[in-house]
Amino acid sequence: MKVFFWDPRSDRQQLSEDPHRPVYHFLPPCNWMNDPNGLFYWQGRYHLFYQFNPTSPLWGKIHWGHASSPDLVHWEDHPVALQPDKGTSDANGCWSGCIVDKNATPTAVYTGFVTPHQTPVMMAQTKDNNLILWEKSPYNPVVDKPPADVRETDFRDPYVWKEEDLWKMLIGAGMLNGECAVLLYESTDLVNWSYMGPLFSDSIKDTHTMWECPNFFRLGDNYVLLVSLFPDIQGVYYYIGKYNGETFQPESQGYFETGRTLYAPHVRWLQADLGDRCIMFGWLREDRNEEAIERAGWAGVQSFPRELLINPQGALVSRPVAELALLRQESQSLGGIQIKPGERYQLPFTENCLEIEALIEAKGGLVGLEFLATPDREEVTRLWIDFDRNQAVLDTSRASRSLDSYHRKGTINFRNPSPKQIKMHLLIDRSVIEVWFNDEVALTGRAYPTRGDAKEIAITTKSEQAGIPYLKVWEIGTIWPVEKG
Ligand code: FRU
Repeated sequence: MKVFFWDPRSDRQQLSEDPHRPVYHFLPPCNWMNDPNGLFYWQGRYHLFYQFNPTSPLWGKIHWGHASSPDLVHWEDHPVALQPDKGTSDANGCWSGCIVDKNATPTAVYTGFVTPHQTPVMMAQTKDNNLILWEKSPYNPVVDKPPADVRETDFRDPYVWKEEDLWKMLIGAGMLNGECAVLLYESTDLVNWSYMGPLFSDSIKDTHTMWECPNFFRLGDNYVLLVSLFPDIQGVYYYIGKYNGETFQPESQGYFETGRTLYAPHVRWLQADLGDRCIMFGWLREDRNEEAIERAGWAGVQSFPRELLINPQGALVSRPVAELALLRQESQSLGGIQIKPGERYQLPFTENCLEIEALIEAKGGLVGLEFLATPDREEVTRLWIDFDRNQAVLDTSRASRSLDSYHRKGTINFRNPSPKQIKMHLLIDRSVIEVWFNDEVALTGRAYPTRGDAKEIAITTKSEQAGIPYLKVWEIGTIWPVEKG
């Protein structure tokens, strides 16, 4: 098989001066990336594959890009792992899928893209312990078309796991009856698959025609189904329930994240020195137009790796993996901050690659964090905590004076009915914002300030009694050897 080589170090170096390019979130050396794929731990290293267009910063003929890491946070680029092969069942793209260990042989199961009506299931294997060289299976495609009651155009993204001696596979689908579904298949060899029927189907809103990128995994005594709502990229949805090997009975459900930034998360249980953890990466989309993306030469970032858990209240929650601590540099702790309405409490640092942990208190009203802010506030991103409505709003409507970037107000409701104190955990990485509240819910967004001095951070309030009993800030260093430290 041909190997697609390029010089990732020089591409990274060239783009490293771009002030919007994150330094501690994974992204390819250049060009377009979307979904994370094939997350896999092998011989002491984490491997991450991703939907990659090596020839353009826009979506196109998709390959599987590849990187590996000793610790989930510092990455090394590798050559493209899977590329479309003319005249075959992945002639126009190697779309999303996963990797499993078949008798000590890493095996990728992915979507072949021929036309929108032809998206068969494909398989590839590697004998290479570094997972660099892949061979496509002579048995491809291993599933050639969807069942009769499924729309031909809405059938993709295999998710495979093993139960004793049996392989199980879910495929994201849209049914002719209008429901979204995950289709269950079984196999003893990953090559011959029997269709068992939909494991589960539902219609969350009339506007969704299919579920993309299904994930199905155990957490404690429960199973979680995590799906991405298609079309229009309208968030990520979860069901938690009981699975008996044949049927899945959800007991609770909800949005894992709303908004247009996080999409197509990929979840795997990874066994490594730190113990078994349920790890997730998700595609963070750009929030600017194609002209700006073409000028930039890159698009798409992965979320900071997250660990998934079910909290004591039975809800699905995520948090950044503990390895974040490996990237922490200088820190400062502040506490006992009281702010009056109309006042602005300027924090004593100007940076745009940061982690902030804070406790925020108020009896009602709004407390706001301003960041990526110019001194005159011509550009400012605001995170409002609304103690009356029990929600947080990430407001990028004034984040950039450029007309090329979109302006949004992303909202998340707190699960706790009347909080007087909110715990906030915020990651800012140039244009990337990820924030968690009360270790429960998260919001993700993008901001593209144009001014070099958009690095101030301050707290404001519209509440009579607002306080920050605890606040800690860390500068976060790069995950790449050649980019800014
Ligand atoms: C989700 C998705 C998948 C598909 C891939 C193509 O973002 O549309 O359903 O396999 O991206 O790049």
